[in-house]
Amino acid sequence: MPMTAIILAAGEGTRMKSRHPKVMHKLLDRPLVSWVTRAAREAGAERIIVVVGHGADEVRAHLANENDVECVEQTERLGTGHATRVALEATGVCSGPVVILNGDLPLVSPETVRAFAESVGTGKHAAAILTMTPPDPFGYGRVELAADGTVARIVEQRDCTAEQSAGLLECNAGCYAFDGALLASHIAEIGNDNAQHEYYLPDMVEILRGHGHATTIVHCDDYREALGVNSRVQLAELSALARDAINTRLMEQGVTMLDPATTWIGPDVTVGRDTVLLPMTMLWGATTVGEECVLGPNTRLTNCTVADNVSLEETVGVDVTIEKDVTCGPRAYLRGGAHVLEGAHVGTHVEIKNSTIGRGSKVPHLSYIGDCTMGAGVNIGGGSITCNYDGVHKNRTTIGDNVFVGSDTMMVAPVTIGDGALVGASSCVVKDVPADALYLERADQRIVEGYASRRLERLKKGDA
Ligand code: UD1
Ligand code: CA
Repeated sequence: MPMTAIILAAGEGTRMKSRHPKVMHKLLDRPLVSWVTRAAREAGAERIIVVVGHGADEVRAHLANENDVECVEQTERLGTGHATRVALEATGVCSGPVVILNGDLPLVSPETVRAFAESVGTGKHAAAILTMTPPDPFGYGRVELAADGTVARIVEQRDCTAEQSAGLLECNAGCYAFDGALLASHIAEIGNDNAQHEYYLPDMVEILRGHGHATTIVHCDDYREALGVNSRVQLAELSALARDAINTRLMEQGVTMLDPATTWIGPDVTVGRDTVLLPMTMLWGATTVGEECVLGPNTRLTNCTVADNVSLEETVGVDVTIEKDVTCGPRAYLRGGAHVLEGAHVGTHVEIKNSTIGRGSKVPHLSYIGDCTMGAGVNIGGGSITCNYDGVHKNRTTIGDNVFVGSDTMMVAPVTIGDGALVGASSCVVKDVPADALYLERADQRIVEGYASRRLERLKKGDA
């Protein structure tokens, strides 16, 4: 039966003390809401419906990148039960398993969501809730079990008596599965007679029970998977948990980390065997790293593709492709559309943008290479720059194979330097250079013997 996922993300998240909606706060490399849509997607949800409200424009704009997600707006925040009702009414969902996930439940696994959805439906349970027993249950809805082991009701922290608060340790994680037909026919029965005057989704359990339909609990053995984010302190705690889980998985797959506590990797990143990650390395987005690489210290890559045996020391890369046997850094900055081919070297204080650096070519020191196509075996002298911007357009520089560019050369684009050409140090290249030619632009040199001391004496005597 195709599963529908509804993600509740309309709340303000007052405890975050933020201008931004809570679900837009990032855990590692992505907003909280995207952890939850990812779990729903990987669990096989056919429809993913996100209820937006507070800061709706910001959440919608972000979710525009996820084209399998539908947004529904809850204009008044009247509680999680109300949010669910709004979603059902706007989308017409009224059958199949419906999984409802709090938008602030980032670490829930796709396996849990899937197992969960499969437990409800005709001939199975009417509903299931994910529960846990965290070390500090304060703030969570508490699950009261009936004598037969099914759920009697869920009591919110604010509505708990002192006895319930101390005695009911099983907590509601904010992940529910309902038989869609039952949910749709009884959702309007949720009331708001409680401490916050809100429509609570957990009340659905008691309502279904009144109609003779039992709710089962699915206990999450590792409570950490089911923790919610309500404050920045919890956000930091969950960030560390997510980091540790990802790093442990990668180390088990054959990646070395000198200091896992300062190595931060997003959930979609892959790293090959025998690659070594040094401290303060951050790998985000859709980055893939090959085998036998050494990254860091202080290397940050976002959406990069790195082949085998690459060394990136103190390197920042965004949207770039690096082929095998390349070395970069310390202090290299590679951005949008840089493609560094096999065996090339990008050195210290070098920035590369939207350029191809050919096989075995070297840009070792203090250079900016932008909008350039560079051949193989090129050497770019220290301090050389492609002047790619005329104030209006970005222009291309084309450098052939085996070109030698002397230090401090300005290449004023659009310009082409042919194969095997030689450019003298400190030239400003404004004309195309034919293959095998010398290009030199230099004022005449003069040497005046004994000038320096004569000048000094003149100055001391007061002569001009
Ligand atoms: C909720 C549960 C509680 C559970 C806990 C787990 C209710 C009433 N309580 O409490 O039993 O233990 O999660 O973390 O559901 N939201 C909306 N619209 C609203 C209100 C909230 O979309 O009108 C969204 C929020 O953006 C959030 C989620 O629903 O992502 C949960 O809301 P939150 O206020 O965080 O609920 P808790 O107090 O944590
Ligand atoms: Ca919460």
